[in-house]
Amino acid sequence: MTIRIVPVTTLDPAPEPAALARAWNEVFVAATVATMGDDHDAWSMASRRARESSTTWSHRYLAAVAEVDGADRVVAAAELMLPLRDNLELAMVDVAVDPDHRRRGVGTRALEHVTNLAVAAARTTLVAETAYPNGGLDHGEGFLDRHGFRVGQTMLRNDLSVEVGSVEAGSDDEVPATPGYVVETSTDDTLDAWLEDRAHLQRRMSTDSPVGDLEFHEEEWDTARLRAQRETTRQSGRRAFESVARHLGSGRLVAFTQLQVPTAEPVLAYQQDTLVLREHRGHGLGAAVKAANLRALRTAFPQARTLRTWNAEENGPMLAVNEALGYRTTAVLREWQKRLA
Ligand SMILES: CC(C)(COP(=O)(O)OP(=O)(O)OC[C@H]1O[C@@H](n2cnc3c(N)ncnc32)[C@H](O)[C@@H]1OP(=O)(O)O)[C@@H](O)C(=O)NCCC(=O)NCCS
Repeated sequence: MTIRIVPVTTLDPAPEPAALARAWNEVFVAATVATMGDDHDAWSMASRRARESSTTWSHRYLAAVAEVDGADRVVAAAELMLPLRDNLELAMVDVAVDPDHRRRGVGTRALEHVTNLAVAAARTTLVAETAYPNGGLDHGEGFLDRHGFRVGQTMLRNDLSVEVGSVEAGSDDEVPATPGYVVETSTDDTLDAWLEDRAHLQRRMSTDSPVGDLEFHEEEWDTARLRAQRETTRQSGRRAFESVARHLGSGRLVAFTQLQVPTAEPVLAYQQDTLVLREHRGHGLGAAVKAANLRALRTAFPQARTLRTWNAEENGPMLAVNEALGYRTTAVLREWQKRLA
C-alpha cells in the first residue's frame, strides 16, 4: 500500500487542516474502539488541541494518507510526545492503524517515521502503550514485540461505581478525621494558595510512585508548570477537583489527590494522581483525601456513574486503598520501552 506521511495540526481552523485533524483523531478513536469497545478512553479533539498547545511537552501529530477507492483517506494516525522540561532522553510514541488497513506494513512505516523524528530530537528511549479489556487482547503487543519493545510496566485500570446510593460508594460520604491533619477540598482545581506546596508534592509524585522497569526520572515542577497544567485541563473541557491534607504542626500540605471530569460527558470521571509524602504515611490520609474528593464530585456532578483510575500492578498500598473504596479492575494497560542504539 502506497502511503504518504503528512503533519497534522489541531490548531488551524481552516477547513482543510481541520478536516484532516478530525479524520486523524477518528482513526485513533476507531482503533481504540476496536480493542476496548465503547468503554474506551480515546482523547477528545478538545484534549488534542490542549495537548498540542502545551509548553512543557511537544506533541507532534502525523497522518498516513493513502488512496482508497479513488479518494485520499487517513489510514493511520501517529503521535510523538517529547517531554521538554525533564526526561529529555524519552520519546513517547503512539501509532494506530485503521482496522480495515492492518497487516500491510502501514503501522511499521508510521512507527519508523516517528522513530526517525525521535532520533532527530536526540531522544534515546521510546515508550509506547497498549491496552485491552480484562480477558481480551491487544494487537499492538505483537507489533511492539516485533519492533524490539519490551514491557516496562503493567497497569490495572480500576473503576469505581460512584452512582448516588450505589453499594460500592457508600451513602454517607464520610471523610475520616485524622488527628494532627486537616483535609481541604477545592472544586476548581489547584488553588493559588496551594501551588508552592503542590509543586513539591508533584515532584515527589515522579520519584515516589512505582515506575516498574521504565526509565522515568524526576520531573521538574514549579508553580508556573502547575498553572500551565491547570490551563491545559480547562482547555480540554475538563473540571478538576482536588483534596489535600494539611499537617497542622508545620502548616504544609503533605498529601493530595486530583480527579477530572470531562464536562461534555460527566458520567465517566478520571481519578488522577494521589500522593502521601512518605513521612506522613500510615495515618489513612490517602483514603481521607480520596473520600473528600468523592464527596465533592458527587455534589457537583450527581450524574457521574464511574470514577476511573490506573494503578501500577506492583503498587500494593494504592491498590489496597482503592480496593477498600470499592474499585474493580476492568482493563489492563502496558507500558513498553525500547532503547535506541
Ligand atoms: C498495532 C498496529 C499499529 C499494527 O498496525 P499494522 O499496520 O497492522 O502493522 P504492520 O502491518 O506494520 O505489522 C508489522 C508486524 O507487526 C506484527 N503484528 C502486527 N499486528 C499483529 C497482531 N495483530 N498480532 C501479532 N503480531 C502483529 C507482525 O509481526 C507484523 O508483521 P506480519 O504482518 O508480516 O506478520 C495496529 O494493530 C493498531 O493500530 N492497533 C491499535 C493501536 C496500538 O496498539 N498501537 C500500538 C502501540 S503504539
